[in-house]
Amino acid sequence: MGKVTHAIYIGVMTLIVLVVTAWLAYTGYSYYELPLEERFYHPQYHWFRPAGPLGHGLGIIGTFLILFGVVFYIARKRYGFMERYLRLKHVLEFHIFLCVLGPILVLFHTTFKFGGMVSIAFWSMVAVVLSGVVGRFIYIQIPRTIEGRALSLAEVNKAKEEIARELRQMEGLESSTLDLILNDDGRQRGYFARKLQLSRVRRELRHKHIDRSRRRAIIELVKQEMSLAGKVSRLRQMQNLFKYWHVVHLPFAIIMLVIVVIHVVITVMLGYRWIF
Ligand code: HEM
Ligand code: HEM
Repeated sequence: MGKVTHAIYIGVMTLIVLVVTAWLAYTGYSYYELPLEERFYHPQYHWFRPAGPLGHGLGIIGTFLILFGVVFYIARKRYGFMERYLRLKHVLEFHIFLCVLGPILVLFHTTFKFGGMVSIAFWSMVAVVLSGVVGRFIYIQIPRTIEGRALSLAEVNKAKEEIARELRQMEGLESSTLDLILNDDGRQRGYFARKLQLSRVRRELRHKHIDRSRRRAIIELVKQEMSLAGKVSRLRQMQNLFKYWHVVHLPFAIIMLVIVVIHVVITVMLGYRWIF
């Protein structure tokens, strides 16, 4: 998929979500805004209510979209379904599209009335959607930020090496001093360890009679390096932590599924058949 095709793909999906949401809100506004006890007297009560042709249909189609969005993504990701034709990234975008649109239809199915056991399914659905949005955002953000910080870190290190090279030529410093300055193992050091390292560098430079302005420049660079290395390492930890993101997304999806199955069985037993 080229850049333009991809933009169209995302654009069409976004447009569908917006148009459908706007249409549902517009067509049913006079019904959904009524207090529960007055809805029965609305001229189109039988159309909009959760068991009505529209309300019931929204529940069924919405649930179907969610199921399809989940099954399709898992089939591609875990079982390599259509691997040769579909990139995982695009299937994930499709997952997000269907699993945003589906819940919106389900929301209108409930007619904004969240009672009984099935409300657990509803709130699980909300949790899954929200965790999806947050997870997607962080997944994209962390590697980007790491990249940016790592680039700055590389620049600082380059500057440090240049200074070190100058020092080596001009003042003939032995390598132990240079090692102290160039120490860039990228480990995340604690606050006191960093202070200690800095004071060692300071002492060593003063000891070797390096002039003040150069000493300042070196200390500044060492400080920058430490702070950036710390940030990168913290971001990496966060990235690792985020593997546990599924702990929210997946179990809530399962809770939702189980309760919806019970909900559907109950409504069918009550005799609700939609248009069939
Ligand atoms: C995520 C999926 C779903 C959620 C969260 C959900 C939620 C709800 C809620 C909150 C109500 C209103 C309950 C009330 O009146 O207090 C409701 C009613 C209803 N739902 Fe669903 N629903 C879902 C899927 C479905 C599906 C797939 C079907 C049918 C196959 C369905 C059929 C019905 C029917 C027939 C009613 C009306 C029941 C009655 O008036 O007694 N729902 N649903
Ligand atoms: C009711 C709605 C949703 C349900 C039931 C659902 C369910 C799932 C399931 C079962 C998976 C597979 C997890 C796995 O492979 O272990 C998944 C993956 C994923 N979902 Fe959703 N999801 C929903 C909505 C969303 C939304 C709205 C977003 C983002 C805005 C989202 C983002 C993701 C991401 C990023 C993954 C990929 C995780 C990975 O491959 O490691 N989901 N979802």
